[in-house]
Amino acid sequence: MAVARGKDRRTVYRCTECGHAQSKWAGQCPGCGLWNSLVESVEDRAPPGASRFSGYAGAAGQADPEPVSLATVEVEAIQRNPSGLEEFDRVLGGGLVPGSAVLIGGDPGIGKSTLLLQTVAALSRSQQVLYLTGEESISQVSLRARRLGLPCETVQILAATELERILRTADRLRPDYLVVDSIQTVYSELLQSAPGSVAQVRECAAQLVRFAKQTGTTVFLVGHVTKEGALAGPRVLEHMVDTVLYFEGDSGSRFRVIRAFKNRFGAVNELGVFAMTETGLKEVRNPSAIFLSRGDEDAPGSVVMVMREGSRPLLVEVQALVDESHLPTPRRVAVGMDGNRLAMLLAILHRHGGVPILNQDVFVNLVGGLRLSETAGDLAVVLAIVSSFRDRPIPRDWVVFGELGLNGEVRPVQSGEERLREAAKHGFRHALAPARNILRGHDPGLEAMPVKTLREAIAAL
Ligand code: TYD
Ligand code: MG
Repeated sequence: MAVARGKDRRTVYRCTECGHAQSKWAGQCPGCGLWNSLVESVEDRAPPGASRFSGYAGAAGQADPEPVSLATVEVEAIQRNPSGLEEFDRVLGGGLVPGSAVLIGGDPGIGKSTLLLQTVAALSRSQQVLYLTGEESISQVSLRARRLGLPCETVQILAATELERILRTADRLRPDYLVVDSIQTVYSELLQSAPGSVAQVRECAAQLVRFAKQTGTTVFLVGHVTKEGALAGPRVLEHMVDTVLYFEGDSGSRFRVIRAFKNRFGAVNELGVFAMTETGLKEVRNPSAIFLSRGDEDAPGSVVMVMREGSRPLLVEVQALVDESHLPTPRRVAVGMDGNRLAMLLAILHRHGGVPILNQDVFVNLVGGLRLSETAGDLAVVLAIVSSFRDRPIPRDWVVFGELGLNGEVRPVQSGEERLREAAKHGFRHALAPARNILRGHDPGLEAMPVKTLREAIAAL
């Protein structure tokens, strides 16, 4: 693949809002008047004489393609290569797809490089791997590989940050897997913007994705998630790549969660769970066990709920602390869940649960650094708050799930039966669940108590 440059390509400054383009940068877009919206980019020159709207004659001598009926399209099965880590394969939708581009985002130090190094080391036994490092030196990476005891004889590594050289080398070696660690360090000489700027990150990623499509190489892009600032976050890349994975976790906890945010080859919201160890990331096959970090005693303010992440249910403990507030506006702090949702749940609790909570500070925390992204956790959050407020523990062998409506009704959630069975599998004996989720004639393996309203649920516990 030749690197396009020179006369068929040019750099322009294009407004991200209105699309106005000009050859020089300006603080204000002359097109729409917005400030700071001109971003440098490389664009193909239009072929001479071909004005965009000058008739629809098409290129000389070429027949235009005919559309076909969707039903008659022959579908080829997608080839997937297992990565060697089952939890990683799960979020990838079953394995690595040749010719796909995978973006792995996450805070610095969370373990992105380690995960990829482990993965490509395993893959390099049977396939060709090229690891490009722009952040760490070759010896640093090598030192880590040795410390982790990874088999790396066949992993090719190169310290490179210039896009054109990277593409030439990759084109010459044609590896099966190409790791770019990180995309923020790569720059194209065609652009004047600094490495890590939106223009550079976007252009370099676009070229690398094109390389993946043209050669069948699987390309991993590592991207740091940063707040708005000098480094462009990987958000600008999300629409370019096939798969977007986010690596998350509390810096204080040794557990790491990898989540599929977008996946053209599989389901989103799949979750893979790892534990950080001296010898690298280890898969956690039974994650429910680690998110139930309960001590031996019943504690007020703690409730176990059944979340669903992607294709599997997860048992997670939610904790609440309610204390009389000395502030004019009581504090509401939500860790691992949406703050607005918490405010709404507190209003429902006040109006329909009859619990006078308005003058109380409320803190809610999801154990294990997880994030509550579905409404099925509503009931558990509210009951944890009531439990803390009344200083009355909820027995340890109960699980709770259900969505709360604004009228205080408990609404059914997806896959209720499956959630009950998961709880039973982990030794829970009782469940508080939406009435419509408890099917008659089915035995989920525990005693399920149906509730229709929040008041019923509070009375039950
Ligand atoms: P690293 O992979 O460099 O993070 P990132 O690429 O996301 O910035 O990991 C940060 C540090 O943590 C690094 O010094 C290695 C160490 N580490 C372990 O010791 N064991 C592990 O399982 C992981 C994931 C990291
Ligand atoms: Mg790194």
